Amino acid sequence: MEILVCTISDRAARGEYRDESGPRIESLLREALPGAAIRRTIISDEPDELRRVLRKSHGVDVILTTGGTGLGPRDNAPEVTLEVCDRQVPGIAELLRLRSLEQTGNAALSRGAAGMLGRTLVVNLPGSVRASDFCTRQLLPLLPHAVEMSGGAGH
Ligand code: MTE
Repeated sequence: MEILVCTISDRAARGEYRDESGPRIESLLREALPGAAIRRTIISDEPDELRRVLRKSHGVDVILTTGGTGLGPRDNAPEVTLEVCDRQVPGIAELLRLRSLEQTGNAALSRGAAGMLGRTLVVNLPGSVRASDFCTRQLLPLLPHAVEMSGGAGH
């Protein structure tokens, strides 16, 4: 399984802030999916940067983005994800929001989406370390079956 973790943050991309969410997501994935090939990237909130990452996804089974799901003027991960994907996977976004709402009402402020781009599953996670850690843990049990159902981007 090939997975790309993409941190979306203007400040992290400029080097003003050390990304902690991306590395945390990566280590959760490595622990749960020992055979997986995992890469990580950091981009700004500029919509074209996420468009470029998603369109280069050929061969990647899963792309997890973290950040850019809130209500800030530069938060546009869900819009770009839904624009580029061919099909929505609303149940994943619903699951993450539902479980997160059991932790905090603030989860209603994350507009994260999920979709398929060809055979690649794209999921938006919130940006904070706590929220992205929690959502990754909710998502992990689904990933093997999701990749199997999609036929696997690498095949
Ligand atoms: N989800 C969980 N599970 N736990 C949280 O603490 N924080 C929320 C939300 N989702 C939170 C959460 C908050 S405060 C915000 S603003 C949104 O995610 C959006 O975060 P983002 O803009 O960094 O993507």
